[in-house]
Amino acid sequence: MRKKVTVVGAGNVGATAAMRVAEKGLADVILVDVLEGVPAGKALDIAEAAPIEKHDCRIVGCTNEYLQAKDSDIVIITAGIPRKPGMSRDDLLSTNMGIMKTVVKEVASVAPQSILIIVSNPLDAMCHVAYDASGFPKERVIGMAGVLDSARFRAFIAMELNVSVENIHAFVLGGHGDTMVPISRYSTVAGIPITELIPADRLAAMEKRTREGGAEIVGLLKTGSAYYAPASGAVEMAEAILKDKKKILPCAAYLQGEYGIKDLFVGVPVKLGERGIEEIIEIRLNEDEQKALHHSAESVHKLVEDMKRLAK
Ligand code: LAC
Repeated sequence: MRKKVTVVGAGNVGATAAMRVAEKGLADVILVDVLEGVPAGKALDIAEAAPIEKHDCRIVGCTNEYLQAKDSDIVIITAGIPRKPGMSRDDLLSTNMGIMKTVVKEVASVAPQSILIIVSNPLDAMCHVAYDASGFPKERVIGMAGVLDSARFRAFIAMELNVSVENIHAFVLGGHGDTMVPISRYSTVAGIPITELIPADRLAAMEKRTREGGAEIVGLLKTGSAYYAPASGAVEMAEAILKDKKKILPCAAYLQGEYGIKDLFVGVPVKLGERGIEEIIEIRLNEDEQKALHHSAESVHKLVEDMKRLAK
């Protein structure tokens, strides 16, 4: 039997993720949204491309019909509003926390064994909402940010050195915001640390571009935020889980003392397999890196406190 992936939110990120899951032949897909017609229309459009793209995954779109998501293996949640130019991800907090809570309660009741991949912003805070609303164990609530941020960093490194993107590994840790922490020391080209290949000032500029990568796209699109790369990030995580790949990727995970951080979702390297997060990998950080990670965790903590105030 084919696996089942539900994507909540049929906007640009959700529809692109649904398309990629189907076109990679990973699973049947249910696309859910609050809008009438849109999820069904996008799902039908993707299904009609199937003969050309050569896959047999079923894809169905529905409006608020969570029963269709019953027993999903994975639920990718993209629901919420995206930012506009001049907005930070944090400006989305009060609107998206309500949407996330409603969606997760529905999902948890029909797919209690599923693994949640959270994509909506502000990402780390939305992971907290999903964790609380689902009651799922921490291994099954995972945030997509590090995969996107490190893909951006990898793309910039490939452009800089004119080498294949496939040669490049990079880690970006911390919260998915302005304080995220690109770790150049652990980023490599065919195994060679980029710190040996790129001068420090160029590297600093590329780290900055990575931190501001989301805003760069928002500034160009004007009407919304990035979606191709975010969708790719979520689907890479889904694939690692569905195929039990034991793949190490930077993801937002609920930390309980790892990296000296407690009771917070923060981006760190994790091993993804059929059980979700199967291990949190603790890489050795130097003092500056550790300080930057803690600074980033502090900004997530602040958002969690803001949410407590807003919930009152
Ligand atoms: C970004 C948004 C989607 O980084 O968070 O592009």
